[in-house]
Amino acid sequence: MIDKKFYITTPIYYPSGKLHIGHAYCTVATDAMARYKRLCGYEVMFLTGTDEHGQKIEDKAREAGVTPQQFVDDIVAAPGGVLDLWKLMNISYDRFIRTTDGYHVEAIQRIFKKMYDKGDIYKGSYKGKYCKPCESFWTESQLRDGKCPDCGREVMDAEEEAYFFRASKYAGQVRELLLNTDFLEPKSRVHEMVNNFIDCEGGLQDLCVSRTSFTWGVPVDFDPGHVVYVWLDALFNYMTALGYQNEKYNDVEKFWPADAHFVGKEIVRFHAIYWPAFLMSMELPLPKKVYGHGWLNFNGDKMSKSKGNVVDPHLLSERYGVDALRFFLLRSFPFGSDGNFTNELLIQTINNDLANDLGNLVSRTTAMAEKYFGGTLPGGGQADPALDDSLISLAGGLRCRYEEQMEKFQFQNALEEVFKVIQRANKYIDENAPWALAKDMEANGPRLARVLYNLLETVRICAVLLTPFMPASCDRIFAQIGAGGDARGWDSAAQWGVLPASVPVSKGENLFPRIDMAKELSELDAIMEEAQKAALPALEVEPFIGEQVDFDTFCKSDFRAVKVKSCENVRKSDKLLKFILDDGTGTDRQILSGIAKWYKPEELVGKTLVAIVNLPPRKMMGRESQGMLISAVHTEQGEEVLHLLMVDDAIPAGAKLC
Ligand code: MSP
Repeated sequence: MIDKKFYITTPIYYPSGKLHIGHAYCTVATDAMARYKRLCGYEVMFLTGTDEHGQKIEDKAREAGVTPQQFVDDIVAAPGGVLDLWKLMNISYDRFIRTTDGYHVEAIQRIFKKMYDKGDIYKGSYKGKYCKPCESFWTESQLRDGKCPDCGREVMDAEEEAYFFRASKYAGQVRELLLNTDFLEPKSRVHEMVNNFIDCEGGLQDLCVSRTSFTWGVPVDFDPGHVVYVWLDALFNYMTALGYQNEKYNDVEKFWPADAHFVGKEIVRFHAIYWPAFLMSMELPLPKKVYGHGWLNFNGDKMSKSKGNVVDPHLLSERYGVDALRFFLLRSFPFGSDGNFTNELLIQTINNDLANDLGNLVSRTTAMAEKYFGGTLPGGGQADPALDDSLISLAGGLRCRYEEQMEKFQFQNALEEVFKVIQRANKYIDENAPWALAKDMEANGPRLARVLYNLLETVRICAVLLTPFMPASCDRIFAQIGAGGDARGWDSAAQWGVLPASVPVSKGENLFPRIDMAKELSELDAIMEEAQKAALPALEVEPFIGEQVDFDTFCKSDFRAVKVKSCENVRKSDKLLKFILDDGTGTDRQILSGIAKWYKPEELVGKTLVAIVNLPPRKMMGRESQGMLISAVHTEQGEEVLHLLMVDDAIPAGAKLC
């Protein structure tokens, strides 16, 4: 018996900022898959949600002056938030989980305890250095000259208590799973995982699964002070949302194991290594598939808020329509590889595939049915196998070719198959020249009716198969070609002749208006430029003094290139660095400078700087400073930023600047 249940998930999103087109990409793909499976008659569970714990959220909330819960509520549930975006994009999820939901939190506590009782989670410690006055842990590499980088005092050896998951115990099993099954796809990702994380030096390391340095997480209920590591908390959402270890739902039996987890390539590691290991520990069945899709870049560059190049799905949906955007995402990029988003490609795809090919086919066919037959085709009609058969067999076999690609999550290829048929149908119009046939309706009426009927059937089959990608537009197509109920279903997509011979047709509004490429590009560029400006940090420079200084006085200031021979923190000062400089005289010059906040001493050794050397010597923290180093200073978002003036190494120490 075929299992007619299908459980598919997206990653749950960090609500640390607005979602962009990259996030929408995976969700649209998952939605297309869920809709496709429903179309095929499956009972589908499509889960998405938000991953709301962790230090990043805690920090962002603090910066915003709100509680972490208020912070995430605002991004998830407020107008324009995550839930609104999925509604706008017509995402047909069946369940939405928030990891701050009470049932999930309790379930995670139970899971953590079970793993602990089993011995798969154990208490250990992070080894490192500790500065008692500052109460801070440091790693060796963070220390400055072996001292606390914050206060410059001596540090001691210390350990921070943490829980660890015995990932190493499951390394062999996970390795087998990756190498000898189809658990992880595309296959190209398998070796990367095995080589980098399992067959690497030291093998798969145990994973630290609790933190004590912040509080925004699921508390370890048997050890206050610890919160559960956010990835353990997040990964189990796929099961708690079905009711695992909680009473809120009761769908584990029905839907677990998941049929597919769609995830971006950078989080494959968590899904392909730790997730199965956690499940092995809990003695639970493993998901059938983890599919690691590629990333969308923008104009060849990684999308990032700070670069101001994130693409806003709200904006694009508003301008071009949700279906056009959904279609573009899955038509233009192979799901398993990275894709380069450009505005040109978006507009080109909409114009070529949707306006020219699909839109034209539908509007020409329905317009001719109205024009020549008043919207109702007469029954019967006259076939011409020489002209009809190739279209009928191509369209008739489409579902099979499409299904083969969809089952492999190859959305781009599935759409390619549909568009081959659409293009063939447009050619069929030209081959049959209905406008010529219409010149003599008495003689050619039956042939014309059959030509139009064949076109309507082709449109219908394509629309059924496009429904998972563009649900609203396909409904409009069905309405225009008079396809109701069964004629929209999966079975009907493999049958020819489903529409009644005298089907009523009505030309509706243009489905996908053509876009003026040049105009749109310049508007989109302008919007992007604004976003980039907004992403730049607000810069404040010191006001100019205004008061003039006469030339001779200025010339009395002796600026020299100086080379840093050594540099160190001044004891008991968190501001001062002590420099020993070569000023070209052969005698070392000592200068103290209050720049420890911006530079580590070791970064400066060997650099050529600029100093004013004829200021009277000054005592600072008991040491003499013979001059002053020149820096550039400005303010960025309320914070003072300083850069030492550094000059070309070719300039010898002692050279006078004038
Ligand atoms: N919270 C984790 C997932 C936990 S799942 C148990 C997370 N969240 S995320 O919001 O940072 O990312 C969610 C998904 O968006 C990831 O799969 C990530 O790969 C995807 N994308 C983020 N930027 C992307 C692109 N530019 N392109 C395609 N997908 C990318 O990771």
